[in-house]
Amino acid sequence: MKKNSGVDLWERAQKVIPGGNMLLSKRSEQFLPGAWPSYFKKASGCHVWDLDGNKYTDVSIMGIGTNILGYGHPEVDEVVRNVVNDGNMSTFNCPEEVYLAEKLVEMHPWADMVKFARSGGEANSIAIRIARAASGKDNVAMCGYHGWHDWYLAANLGNSEGLDGHLLPGLPTSGVPRGLQSTIFPFSYNNIDELELLVRTKNIGIIKMEVSRSEGPQNGFLEKVRALATKNNVVLIFDECTSGFRETFGGLHKKYGVEPDLAVFGKAIGNGYALTAVIGKQEVMEYAQASFISSTFWTERIGPAAACRFLGWPIATGGTVRDHIGLGKFFSPLDACSYHSVLPIPGCACCWDGRTWQSQAQLRPTVGKPQADGSDQRCSGSDRGSAWVDHDCMGPRHRCYVLATLFPWAR
Ligand SMILES: Cc1ncc(COP(=O)(O)O)c(C=O)c1O
Repeated sequence: MKKNSGVDLWERAQKVIPGGNMLLSKRSEQFLPGAWPSYFKKASGCHVWDLDGNKYTDVSIMGIGTNILGYGHPEVDEVVRNVVNDGNMSTFNCPEEVYLAEKLVEMHPWADMVKFARSGGEANSIAIRIARAASGKDNVAMCGYHGWHDWYLAANLGNSEGLDGHLLPGLPTSGVPRGLQSTIFPFSYNNIDELELLVRTKNIGIIKMEVSRSEGPQNGFLEKVRALATKNNVVLIFDECTSGFRETFGGLHKKYGVEPDLAVFGKAIGNGYALTAVIGKQEVMEYAQASFISSTFWTERIGPAAACRFLGWPIATGGTVRDHIGLGKFFSPLDACSYHSVLPIPGCACCWDGRTWQSQAQLRPTVGKPQADGSDQRCSGSDRGSAWVDHDCMGPRHRCYVLATLFPWAR
């Protein structure tokens, strides 16, 4: 086995950073406790180099879904370098935020206005604030994962299993004001009866949901949600932080032809640079001015500039993001296969078929040592399985390749 300095640094991190880092999904314990390299010194395309220079193919979730065009995309990075050269901050505003807002509205004709932020959780909080102001009601019916903020974690107040079935079960709620209990009511995806009951009995002002995550809509579910929201003057918000820009150029809702009142984008839109957005209908978005929604770094220039390039790039070259990945413009076919967790690969039977992103639990690499026969050793007591071992569109040989590249010591 080659040197693995990341293990030591991860141990040092525990002493100075609670939990070791800032994102649950990048914690060493989520992958291979005691042996996960944890830190990178270089990332390019779908390859990552650890602190000791070992090279890996990222068959996990590419920066937790951010780098849909690969790490260090040359065209996006060129724009960012120009921004750094010219200055990324000033007392004036950056013009890119206007170009980007116009572009997002053009791509989603039902929307008129946009607000920007820098993380998915805060963009979701902005959307909830605006929607509460617009509806005049506090209560939210919710399905899916939407970040770490109080309004969302309140679903686990009083019932620690409130968020079970919504990507991350058992999220702890210390510090979340008890007064928020009974302001958010989870419902199951594809269960319109459950949602109708909530709207009827819980004074719901907002429906907040992912368009689709681990399963697609059935029996006209999204259309029924839209009709229910319209009939009851409920603000419908689609959280497209994860689903956006993967199967469609824009929101996944474009594929299903169902339009929300607000939509939230994050992750892929800056191809690794921080930029998130709330887009929406004017009559709802204008309520942003009835509340105080403001932050210094929501004005910095790198995120909007990278996102402008990201949005311009597929159009300029006459295809979609998916086409480019599928054609392997920047990646070899084998590399492209590593993008399973980010994009469906056209023609691949085991990739998503009309769905967005399999649940993260399914996408975790094995926790435990790969076995000699190529099978995995699952982490007992955890639902975090070994998707990449199961995810074998290219057959056992691909799995071996994956094992060898992900775990250099297994060579
Ligand atoms: C659908 C969805 N919404 C919101 C978030 C939160 O985004 P962030 O981690 O950038 O705060 C995520 C992150 O995984 C997500 O998948």
